[in-house]
Amino acid sequence: MARALIAGLCNHGFPAQQIQVHAPHPQRRDALAAEFGVQSLAAEPCPLPPEAIVVYAAKPKQMRAILTAWAHELRAARVLLISVAAGVRLSSLQALVPEVDVVRVMPNTPTQIGAGASTLYAPAELDTARRQQAEKLVQSTGLAEWLPDEESMDMATALAGSGPAYVFLFLEALEDAAVAGGLYRDQARRLAIATLRGAAELAQQSDLAPALLRHQVTSPGGTTAAGLSAWEEGLRPLAKRALDAASRRSQELAALLAEEL
Ligand SMILES: NC(=O)c1ccc[n+]([C@@H]2O[C@H](COP(=O)([O-])OP(=O)(O)OC[C@H]3O[C@@H](n4cnc5c(N)ncnc54)[C@H](OP(=O)(O)O)[C@@H]3O)[C@@H](O)[C@H]2O)c1
Repeated sequence: MARALIAGLCNHGFPAQQIQVHAPHPQRRDALAAEFGVQSLAAEPCPLPPEAIVVYAAKPKQMRAILTAWAHELRAARVLLISVAAGVRLSSLQALVPEVDVVRVMPNTPTQIGAGASTLYAPAELDTARRQQAEKLVQSTGLAEWLPDEESMDMATALAGSGPAYVFLFLEALEDAAVAGGLYRDQARRLAIATLRGAAELAQQSDLAPALLRHQVTSPGGTTAAGLSAWEEGLRPLAKRALDAASRRSQELAALLAEEL
């Protein structure tokens, strides 16, 4: 995730030499330094540039140890701390580093190729300038959407965080069905991926809602109408069940982490 953010920033013209990577394994952070021209530094606490933006991208369970070790430096430099740690609530962050401005971000895996869909949440008291800094950083990896309350992070995680896996499953299912119907597998895969990508881009570029786009390509009695009536039977209740299950799990995991932190 840290690499994805570094790549996004560098591809958007942010000066690489202003980015410091603090991580325990020299060979891994040196590889980032060689690839992007960022500075490679040990994970030990050291003074930070004033008003720096610090991204916490280590594992959620390491947060207590890492933030406790860095608490003095984070406060002294009046940094903006952005946490991408899944399931770590703002209250846990604030308890670990009181007096430090914090933003919680939930990215997803397409962030790695600049096509992410991330959600952000910050406490009401965080000022506009700092919100804009966080938003700009996240936008360098794709879409950035602010959430009005922290509870929505669970449903956003269920939708966008877990979403790429649902899409991969959908692609698998389309491919298998097409192969069962007589297409070659490699051709079925290419067609399924290009169709999904083309439809998603069309939906993004169009002013019309997906339902209207669907109506536009559905002639009464045609092939699309026949296919859609089969999808309609099961898809909507299934989508609701899948997102509710993932959101519930996100809440459970966040509660467990809150106890541990
Ligand atoms: N992957 C995802 O799709 C995804 C999605 C949403 C949120 N997240 C969140 O993003 C965070 C990172 O996930 P990931 O998948 O990128 O994990 P990862 O590949 O294991 O990366 C963790 C990074 O933390 C570094 N680290 C370990 N100890 C450290 C320390 N003491 N100080 C500084 N850095 C330290 C590691 O450095 P070394 O390389 O030197 O070991 C490693 O680069 C997690 O909190 C996760 O919940 C990930």
